[in-house]
Amino acid sequence: MTDPSDFNDRTLSLGLARVAEQAALACGDLIGRGDEKAADMAAVNAMREQLDMLPIQGVVVIGEGERDEAPMLYIGEEVGTGDGPGVDIALDPLEGTTLTAKAMPNALTIIAMAPRHTMLHAPDVYMDKLAIGPGFPKDVVSLEMSPRERVEALARAKGCKPSEITVCVLERPRHQEIIDDIRSTGAAVFLITDGDIAAVMHCAESEMTGIDMYMGLGGAPEGVLAAGALKCMGGQIWGRLTFRNDEERARAAKAGITDLDRVYSRDDMVTDQVIIAATGVTDGSVVSGLKRRPGYIETETVLMRSRTGSLRRMIYRSKRD
Ligand code: FBP
Repeated sequence: MTDPSDFNDRTLSLGLARVAEQAALACGDLIGRGDEKAADMAAVNAMREQLDMLPIQGVVVIGEGERDEAPMLYIGEEVGTGDGPGVDIALDPLEGTTLTAKAMPNALTIIAMAPRHTMLHAPDVYMDKLAIGPGFPKDVVSLEMSPRERVEALARAKGCKPSEITVCVLERPRHQEIIDDIRSTGAAVFLITDGDIAAVMHCAESEMTGIDMYMGLGGAPEGVLAAGALKCMGGQIWGRLTFRNDEERARAAKAGITDLDRVYSRDDMVTDQVIIAATGVTDGSVVSGLKRRPGYIETETVLMRSRTGSLRRMIYRSKRD
């Protein structure tokens, strides 16, 4: 195992931003074209190409799927030049494929890098997630509580009424009971159609976004990326894998997971330092989307390092004829 002290987060972070930027730029012509697959493939190709320019011995731990289902950026794939530190790579080349295809807000590209063997290899199943922002006592809310209890506990900790809490939830039929329970407290529910990594990130900046808590079932790989983001921005997240059938349980076994009921905290999912880059594809509250200007396209990237808690917003102009 590579010594985590070899992980030069300062130098590597700019390279990571380039990877996220190029993936977003590759989606530019596919926004609003109704083709999720083409948009995802464009982002995957660009990310793969850029990753191979980085001086790392990278292994994809969260990627496009298992080796037999994904031609590129599959779990276990080695990326980078082969020189430099051994690192785990977690990525979602296009978070919000449907958002991109429909030109709806909050689609982004996102990639995380951490010392080797420090990020959870989450199988492609659902994860029951619960997230809040920074500044609250440890475990002030938990997955064991009902949605109502979580709202009430967070309101007490925040020193406000439950009706002053806003909870973000993915709009899915499976979440109707959660939504009803949250609303029964008087709290507001902020429904999103897709993109729960951005939704979790919103909890870290609740004064700006107005979102205090995120809960519900979404992709487990997205849960690990969200945990990395909160490790940089501050905040707590818990996740428990949920399985609909034996095939999904087998995926967990393949990923080396033996305790299927385990609740993972943020630091269980990302155990060491991490760097994250996310670039907007369509406009969102985390980052702005691609902007076409005369002669160039502009991207906005947020680049974060957990070791320092630093967060940079970077505007990049890519020349276009
Ligand atoms: P894609 O970008 O792969 O379409 O995922 C978007 C997303 O909304 C994630 O943010 C979320 O975790 C997951 O899909 C939810 O899955 P489902 O659409 O099955 O409810």
